[in-house]
Amino acid sequence: MKTEIFKIDPTNIDFEVMSYCGKIIREGRLVCFPTETVYGLGANSFDASAVKKIFAAKGRPQDNPLIVHIADIDMLHLITPCEGEAYDRIMKLAAHFWPGPLTMVSPKDDAIPDTVTCGLSTVGIRYPSNEIAKALIKCSGVPIAAPSANLSGKPSPTTGERCIEDLTGRVDVIIDGGACSVGVESTVFDVTKELTVLRPGAVTREQIAEVLGKASEIDWTLPVEGKPRSPGMKYRHYAPKATMYLFEGSMKKVSEKIRSLCEEAKGEGKKVGILVTDQTVRFYGRRNPCADTILSIGDRKDPFSQARNVFDTLRDFDDEKVDVIFAEAVPREGVGNAVMNRLFRAAGGKIEKL
Ligand code: TXA
Ligand code: MG
Repeated sequence: MKTEIFKIDPTNIDFEVMSYCGKIIREGRLVCFPTETVYGLGANSFDASAVKKIFAAKGRPQDNPLIVHIADIDMLHLITPCEGEAYDRIMKLAAHFWPGPLTMVSPKDDAIPDTVTCGLSTVGIRYPSNEIAKALIKCSGVPIAAPSANLSGKPSPTTGERCIEDLTGRVDVIIDGGACSVGVESTVFDVTKELTVLRPGAVTREQIAEVLGKASEIDWTLPVEGKPRSPGMKYRHYAPKATMYLFEGSMKKVSEKIRSLCEEAKGEGKKVGILVTDQTVRFYGRRNPCADTILSIGDRKDPFSQARNVFDTLRDFDDEKVDVIFAEAVPREGVGNAVMNRLFRAAGGKIEKL
């Protein structure tokens, strides 16, 4: 398949190109586009055969439902019934967090085909704040179903280049709109019964609880057994090619452990990567680094910087072709909790506490 690539300046959107891309969506074809979280791989959410193409393009398991993206509240009314407790909660949360990085698992209207939700009676809905994403949805005139625009299992793309790397030849259009401002996928929150954060993101459980009076979060460190509430939870995700190990504890203990493992792995002839923060990079030898590749995820005190960098840094390790990555944990506060969730998944669902 030939992929058309358009570079769009988010501060000066070319609406001629956007209306062309909207037409592609209406024709049942695939368009990748930036959002404030990560790039999405979009299709018309009302068109089951278009949605099927998403699963094929990504190599996505058939039982992992997609999020439907809207560009105004009128579109919400096409995909979820506007009545009942769930609807009241949606409107409350929308007033605080939309447009933005929050997906609400809501009752599904029949207009949304089962292909989107993999047969579930609920649908994940998000109103993104990215101007290019909003323009695309508006120009297409339909809500857009879109997972993250990566090949299944790989870290999500947060720049146009990473999206192009994964999906050229697999989609009709890629809109390169620069770097994503948040960098981790949206918070997935179930408004139907459980009032539970199913996937942490930039909107935190605490913020949601302030609006609704209560909200819980699944313990994502527990192994997923049986049928998970969010089907995406059971898949190895965000994973670089190298084997990754994650360590949590005092900076001193963590850096000592990583230095000694590094020495051991080097002794075995392995190419070693270390994932650190700006503040801890000095523990690994500035002049004489103990690893082949040392990359910082960002400022320890600024979880938003970590969120912006986490996926691209994991992909940078792949580019360096390291065999093993030893990663420092970051503080689990605010969006740092979402960053840790992604690191945890990238490390195959393991964390060593020191
Ligand atoms: O930020 C984001 O959410 C990005 C951008 C493109 O909007 N999208 C994204 O989609 O991350 P995806 O498909 O990579 O992740 C969607 C997650 C999966 O874990 C899926 O299982 C969960 O949302 N999900 C979707 N619909 C659901 C539903 N009805 N019930 C429970 N979980 C659902
Ligand atoms: Mg994804």
